[in-house]
Amino acid sequence: MKIRNVKQKLAALGTAAALAFAAADCGASSSAPSSQAQKQADYTVGILQYTSHSSLDEISGAIQAELDQLALAAGVTIDVQLKNGQGDNATINDICTMFVSDGVDLIIPIATPAATAAAAAVQGTDIPLVYSAVTDPVAAQLAQSMEAPGENMTGTSDYIDTARILDLVLANQPETRSIGLIYNLAETNSETTVANLKPILEEKGIQAVESTVTTPGEVQMAAQNLASQGVDAIFVPIDNTVASAMSVLADEANRAGIPVYTAADSMVRDGGLATTGVNYTKLGQLTAQMAMDVLQGADPAAMPVKVLDDGIVTVNTTTAAALGIDPNVFDLTGEGYVTVE
Ligand code: TRP
Repeated sequence: MKIRNVKQKLAALGTAAALAFAAADCGASSSAPSSQAQKQADYTVGILQYTSHSSLDEISGAIQAELDQLALAAGVTIDVQLKNGQGDNATINDICTMFVSDGVDLIIPIATPAATAAAAAVQGTDIPLVYSAVTDPVAAQLAQSMEAPGENMTGTSDYIDTARILDLVLANQPETRSIGLIYNLAETNSETTVANLKPILEEKGIQAVESTVTTPGEVQMAAQNLASQGVDAIFVPIDNTVASAMSVLADEANRAGIPVYTAADSMVRDGGLATTGVNYTKLGQLTAQMAMDVLQGADPAAMPVKVLDDGIVTVNTTTAAALGIDPNVFDLTGEGYVTVE
């Protein structure tokens, strides 16, 4: 209900962006806008994508495709409503309220901030959550433990191997003395990643130079700030805010000749230099499989969180060429690496 008010408000503003938002919103729910359609399907699922960036787009696409396949195979129908929170708390809360008042059978929030909001919204209801790509569900207080999450929720996690990302940095720049870190302090997922990295940096005598942001719009200044401090490299943890402005960061860093190492392949596709990380299409598919199990009666509280830790090295060859770096330095294991341009 409330989301309709948001749409009206946006439409009243009369801007192109508002109209685009409203149109996109209608499109997303057009498969089942009415309660009639909901009654016809065996199950209704609300997907809440935290914001728009390439990794979350990949995940939500994979979840929907896999749910379609699983429904077909099981001979059931699932009415899937995909909503994008645009990284905005009010919008996210409105979407959660709508899912709850519609009485969906299950919610799939994608990314930690979406999962946190959805978990609060389903308090006192019996709607289960199967979250996707939550880096540290325990630190985010979404799971009591990875093995037995408790409450009425479980999901998938993307493990960030900070030590291996640092190996990539040192393979290319053995003399690294300082690393710039760009992230949003409000994202638990980034906080955990940075907390894991810091002791390793300290041990190696590498200085961490932090530049935090609260919105994607601040990323450019943060990058300029790090460049002016002369950092040897920049590391981006698994941060949704920075990922939303990754191409801006890459442009700024490449211009200053500073290599950017990231915690996800999407941020390398968007112009970063190198990463080692997980396959987010696979992660989305796993999320959908867990969701299907829960829809068909499995107890989420007792389903262990599934952690992916693929360790796939991805290198952007265009960025490497611009920085005069031989991509082969990143072939740490001799097993090769994925290249993107
Ligand atoms: N793991 C992030 C979280 O917990 C979400 C995420 C998935 C992400 N893929 C990403 C963030 C790529 C930044 C870049 O919220």
